[in-house]
Amino acid sequence: MKVAIFSGSVYGTAEEVARHVQGLLKAAGFETFYDPRASLSDVQAFAPEAFLAVTSTTGMGELPDNLQPLYYAIRDHLPAWSGLPGGVIALGDSSYGDTFCGGGELVRELYAELGIREVQDMLRLDSSESVTPETDAEPWVARFIAALKA
Ligand SMILES: Cc1cc2nc3c(=O)[nH]c(=O)nc-3n(C[C@H](O)[C@H](O)[C@H](O)COP(=O)(O)O)c2cc1C
Repeated sequence: MKVAIFSGSVYGTAEEVARHVQGLLKAAGFETFYDPRASLSDVQAFAPEAFLAVTSTTGMGELPDNLQPLYYAIRDHLPAWSGLPGGVIALGDSSYGDTFCGGGELVRELYAELGIREVQDMLRLDSSESVTPETDAEPWVARFIAALKA
């Protein structure tokens, strides 16, 4: 199965998590596509069969600037990805209150518009609680892998 990975990051943490997860997915036998600067045509050329978004939150619950071009291109073109499986790993800081992991929530809204099926609940990684997001994500990723293989 071919898994496309998207990331949105201001300071690089979400990109580190995305790279780590890419390694886990490859080790589990998946073909992966990950380019933090990918355009929609790059993603479409890969012909993805599943999606994983890893994004932090900035501003007041907004997506990082580097994910916005791809996010809006997908929303404008609505590629035929309906029914495909997906997951979201959101990085945030719970001290922001209501906007905690808002970037991840925006990706969930996009998945819903596209008909991408979330195979498990979004993972929320709280930077006020932990400084090891890559390893914290591993149990969630193991369940994600199992769900894709099921
Ligand atoms: C200016 C700024 C605004 C932020 N706004 C939010 C927010 O609204 N909600 C949230 O959950 N986290 C917010 N955060 C926390 C980041 O999302 C969190 O620290 C994340 O781990 C950063 O990941 P990155 O290095 O990939 O950008 C904000 C951080 C900064 C510096």
